Amino acid sequence: MAQMLAARLHVPSRTLRMEEVPRPQPGPGEVLVKVEAAGVCLSDVHLIDGTLTPLLLRGDTVTLGHEVSGTIAETGDGVTAWTPGQRVVLHAGEERGGVVHTRGVDYDGGWAEYALSAAGALTLLPDAIPFDQGAIIPDAVSTPWGAITETGAVRPAEAVGVWGVGGLGVHAVQLLRMVGACPIVALDPSPVARERALAAGADLALDSADPGLREAIAAVTGGTGLAAAFDFAGVPAVREQALTVLAPKGRLVLVGLTDKPLNVADGTRFSYLQQRILGHYGSDMPVSLPQLLRLIEGGRLDFSGSISGVLPLAQAAAAVARLEKKEGNPIRLILRP
Ligand SMILES: NC(=O)c1ccc[n+]([C@@H]2O[C@H](COP(=O)([O-])OP(=O)(O)OC[C@H]3O[C@@H](n4cnc5c(N)ncnc54)[C@H](O)[C@@H]3O)[C@@H](O)[C@H]2O)c1
Repeated sequence: MAQMLAARLHVPSRTLRMEEVPRPQPGPGEVLVKVEAAGVCLSDVHLIDGTLTPLLLRGDTVTLGHEVSGTIAETGDGVTAWTPGQRVVLHAGEERGGVVHTRGVDYDGGWAEYALSAAGALTLLPDAIPFDQGAIIPDAVSTPWGAITETGAVRPAEAVGVWGVGGLGVHAVQLLRMVGACPIVALDPSPVARERALAAGADLALDSADPGLREAIAAVTGGTGLAAAFDFAGVPAVREQALTVLAPKGRLVLVGLTDKPLNVADGTRFSYLQQRILGHYGSDMPVSLPQLLRLIEGGRLDFSGSISGVLPLAQAAAAVARLEKKEGNPIRLILRP
């Protein structure tokens, strides 16, 4: 049986290992994709450090990687929509039995030479979009897109705040700019991230430790506060801080992931101001991916500046360490088999 290289996480010991494993065979309704590019997300760091645990994984080991693009290598029985050689983006999740399973978390992902996908969980990647940019659309771009357009339902001219201008947050700033949010306030303790936010279109970038933060946000929102605040950091303190600068009826959208409790410091104020806290996860891929690919092809969006480095698949552990330690301040690092 043909073998392939894969970066696999042994969940009980939280050990990432490069392994030679059998190349999977597509079953009925499935497609085998030759992986061309796979992104590295802070969620991968969390899976390895133990703050994120797969809930639906069968067995104790999983190939990581939920941001994946490639070419169709083989199709299983009954698949008519795809032919070998087509360029595709793999969806970051699949619904199985009515439950969302996440690629590279609940089933094997794309930090490997080949990856399996349900035939319905792929979107065609236009020739004009390189594989590395295609790979980061599911998740690093589509998750903020879903958070902004669906969960947060941001309308033009609304004041918004983006906490955490990393891989997801920097794209959120670009997307908020495109949907007409104004002003866009970015908050991050990292000076490089704040510069990145301004370059991506934020109107104001603040250090989240700035003691004058509330006054600064009041000044740019005419004293009203933010209509929508987004946590793209996954840090408990962010949520409490965001609630202090949220407008009446404002929405706080939680995209960053943390296993720590969610605390509302003043419950009466929260109810009186009729504010809302909304959890967000992923996006509706069959809708969001074609939308985003059309906007890129149509020249409305450009993520070429988001690829901070490309490493061979065998260096997956080094890529994870670079993201965790923010070495070189990466937006997205790409693994290439
Ligand atoms: N809900 C989902 O569907 C989903 C999908 C993907 C990732 N995530 C989560 O989103 C978060 C961001 O992922 P990423 O890959 O963009 O991470 P990243 O490491 O690229 O970016 C995180 C940013 O948050 C900043 N930050 C840290 N503490 C902060 C604070 N107190 N205030 C403001 N900013 C702060 C960091 O400086 C960094 O710039 C992670 O928690 C990840 O697990 C959620």
